[in-house]
Amino acid sequence: MYVGTAKAALGHNSDSLVDLRSDTVTRPSPGMLAAMAAAEVGDDVFGDDPTVIALEEKTADLFGKEAALFLSTGTQSNLCAMLAHCGRGEEVLVGRPYHVFSAEAHGASVLGGIALDPLDVNPDNSIDPQSVRSAVKPDDPHLPITKLLCLENTVTGKAVPLDKQEAAAQAARELGLAVHLDAARGFNAAAALDIDVRTLARCADSVSACLSKGLGTPAGTVLCGPKDLVRRARRYRKMLGGGMRQVGILAAAGIYALDNHAPRIAEDHARAATLRQGLAEMDGLSVDQAPNQTNMVLVTITAPNPEAVQASLRGAGIVTGLSGNFMRLVVHRDIDDAGIARVIDAFAGALAA
Ligand SMILES: Cc1ncc(COP(=O)(O)O)c(C=O)c1O
Repeated sequence: MYVGTAKAALGHNSDSLVDLRSDTVTRPSPGMLAAMAAAEVGDDVFGDDPTVIALEEKTADLFGKEAALFLSTGTQSNLCAMLAHCGRGEEVLVGRPYHVFSAEAHGASVLGGIALDPLDVNPDNSIDPQSVRSAVKPDDPHLPITKLLCLENTVTGKAVPLDKQEAAAQAARELGLAVHLDAARGFNAAAALDIDVRTLARCADSVSACLSKGLGTPAGTVLCGPKDLVRRARRYRKMLGGGMRQVGILAAAGIYALDNHAPRIAEDHARAATLRQGLAEMDGLSVDQAPNQTNMVLVTITAPNPEAVQASLRGAGIVTGLSGNFMRLVVHRDIDDAGIARVIDAFAGALAA
């Protein structure tokens, strides 16, 4: 539901928009707002916000790591992790399509003097162990020192199979590298693979998990890992201007989301599957049917005028992103069965026009 300026900004006079642009667009649920309002707070830079401490302890335990740090965003969390793992002149190996390489402005290089070497990925978005072995640089002053392998799960809405993720991590470890897992949508990955997030993260030294995507908080990401690494990451968080004060208000939303929203995340996957199936039958669309899908429906519009399709959807109160003729439709907790039915009907109408 949208109110006031948000509704006006989206150019629609109904309060029942279906917003498929991302799972980041969710509004806090009433229970979450109540938990935020009731949160006991302190000053997190002084380390005395009890709700932040509770969230950090809870997530460290969930992900099977010694410690955790609450940060503002996934980008800040990945950056602090890379800065904590690597020094200047050192290098991170990362999948070419992964967010760390493709969508974080190479912050580790710009701010940390850390090189990023992008590795091609398999069709299931895993990294081949052999690619890791070939990319690790020998001890040669012409080359950076390879320190870290950065994995991601899910990748573009698909869960990377656990055995493939672990094979890449194992190859890295055998060569003395540490492993970081960008699990921005790790709860989606774990649900799709039918495992818990501790198992998902067991091959990684550090793991970053967003609370503001499928879990539905207004903001926040946790970085979990060994105590020493988290201590270094805390220093970088402050250096990057990310030390926040009475942030227990946001941490309370995170705790609420872990208890109440994480257990229902597979519902989004089921609704995405219904949408995928509904769209697959339509002339004018080509829908990605690869295995291990979660909450995203990846659509190529083969009909002649993709912008007209998007505009027609918008007229029906369906908000989408469009890049060329590609649409990523993201299902989240603010979209119910009726919303999915409306999207399917709106596509049928748009393609018939
Ligand atoms: C896989 C992945 N990692 C990291 C991020 C960065 O998260 P944020 O937007 O909170 O910086 C995103 C954002 O969509 C993402 O998809």
